[in-house]
Amino acid sequence: MARYTVVAMPGDGVGKIVLPEALRVLEAVGFDAEYVHADVGWECWINEGNPLPERTVELLAEHRLGLFGAITSKPKREAAAELRPELRDRGLTYFSPIVGMRQRFGLDVCIRPCRSFPGNPLNFVRRAAGDGIEEPKVDAVVFRQNTEGLYAGIEWTDPPQEVVAALARHPRWAAFADVPKQDVALSVRVFTRRACRRIVEAAFRYARKHGYGSVTICEKPNVLRETSGMLEEIGQEVAADFPGIALRSTNIDAQMMWLTKNPEHYEVLVAGNLFGDIVSDAFAGLVGGLGFACSANIGDEVAVFEPTHGSAPKYAELEPSIVNPIAMILSAVMMLDHVGEDDKAQRIRTAIADVVAEGRVRTYDMMRIPGGSDALSRGAASTREMTDAILARL
Ligand code: IPM
Ligand code: MG
Repeated sequence: MARYTVVAMPGDGVGKIVLPEALRVLEAVGFDAEYVHADVGWECWINEGNPLPERTVELLAEHRLGLFGAITSKPKREAAAELRPELRDRGLTYFSPIVGMRQRFGLDVCIRPCRSFPGNPLNFVRRAAGDGIEEPKVDAVVFRQNTEGLYAGIEWTDPPQEVVAALARHPRWAAFADVPKQDVALSVRVFTRRACRRIVEAAFRYARKHGYGSVTICEKPNVLRETSGMLEEIGQEVAADFPGIALRSTNIDAQMMWLTKNPEHYEVLVAGNLFGDIVSDAFAGLVGGLGFACSANIGDEVAVFEPTHGSAPKYAELEPSIVNPIAMILSAVMMLDHVGEDDKAQRIRTAIADVVAEGRVRTYDMMRIPGGSDALSRGAASTREMTDAILARL
């Protein structure tokens, strides 16, 4: 029997292409696992009215480790229109299965490392003082609170009367008091001390383990006094237990500006759910973008690892495939970190770094050419060739 059982959820589009590539790499490095397939995504929504079927939830509960490819999401009305006809009048609403999975299993700690690989032509460069350009080394790790905040799903258009009545107890509601309630939409930002503490502690522990000197809380406490304020306050409490690590604080808007000015100043960052979503994409853009952006969603029991790219349906059709598998492979490497297979993780990271540094094998995104059917004839490596190059280095 294998040591680990991993639930493999390719999902939609290119998820089905990149996930098997990651499995080839895990196999090559000798990761002792078996994989059980689980359905998730758009086809489940269309045919069953549920993009995260209960059988998938059960497999995750049982095996506790998941690899997730990518999913297609569409806005409310479009999603409803694509349901099988017999499911259409049941009032079903589409809900992102990855967000659902995070909440269902309390995968509240999301880790998104954004590190530049030397030699990656997609790395951020800036104008140096004087002439020329320079390429700062980016090594930032975003800790995103993954279950609460504006993703809590507590939303209304035309809220119930008792909700409006409760809001009316706040003096600031006066500004909206004469708006008809059917013209009001609300999305509630919920923070809890428990979740704030867990994300901040996870960030500090990670900083200590990996030798980072600072943790930056990236929120908006000057305006969102209660929610951002709570995360900041807990940051200060937790920081007291980690004397060697500096606690810093930035506002999300300023952070977005600074990260293209001096990205090398940031190490571990902590943010609430939506700001974490935003700032992690922004940092990922400095180190190669979606082809390199990996992530871990970690709870007390279950952990799911996924590239942060979408399902890119138009690329899923191309044969052979041209999408960059590195984000998915790096996500699988985060799974190795999680289970303590440090050597294997390091070997894969080194192999990827070597392939990128050598620069002989590059997917279309790394060549900065459009991702069409002619990418290969223009010299881009296919998905499989990129994985083969990494395997050859192993
Ligand atoms: C991410 C994605 C998801 C999110 C989407 C697909 C719901 O953007 O993982 O960053 O917003 O969390
Ligand atoms: Mg995102």
